Amino acid sequence: MKLRYALCLSGLLCMQAIAAEPANIPQFSRVQSDYLLACGGCHGESGVSNSRLVPDLRNQVGYFLNTPQGRRYLVQLPNVVTSALDDAALAGVLNFMVWDIGGAGVPARASRYTAPEVSMLRREPLNTVSLKDYRRQLVESLIAEHGAPPAMRYYSTAAEAMR
Ligand code: HEC
Repeated sequence: MKLRYALCLSGLLCMQAIAAEPANIPQFSRVQSDYLLACGGCHGESGVSNSRLVPDLRNQVGYFLNTPQGRRYLVQLPNVVTSALDDAALAGVLNFMVWDIGGAGVPARASRYTAPEVSMLRREPLNTVSLKDYRRQLVESLIAEHGAPPAMRYYSTAAEAMR
């Protein structure tokens, strides 16, 4: 470290020394940074944060795509609808969330979110229902009919729910 700064005193050598520095800094794609900035603060880098307060996304959120209502729910949530991301970027983040974080529950026939779909659903936010009741209804049908894990009821990671 010290050596590198010493080299920096002599112009060109400095640039070479820095260029030779191994890339330890994580590199994020556009969609990953969008997710991290817009959602990751609450949901965690890999879709898990405080599982009692914020639903796990990792290995769970994909199940919602088994029903049309569940698919819409993922976009119509207050924190999603009001995101600062534009429709195309939000569609990208939702696809990242479902396919890269969501896990095995995504049905094979599911299609990716598009900007026009997101744009339409954003005009119908879930602000006139009790989110808790609405989610309970969705999750019960996913558990009963689509093999979703019962732990989804409690927002929790499976391990936490077993306690
Ligand atoms: C301020 C914190 C916060 C931010 C930012 C946030 N969320 Fe959430 N999210 C929550 C909370 C809390 C819930 C539980 C429902 C509720 O109260 O809205 C939730 C629920 C969800 C759910 C429902 C999962 C389930 O199992 O029911 C999804 C999907 C989701 N958020 C995706 C996102 C995406 C995508 C973004 C970014 C565009 C985002 N959230 C941004 C806090 C946040």
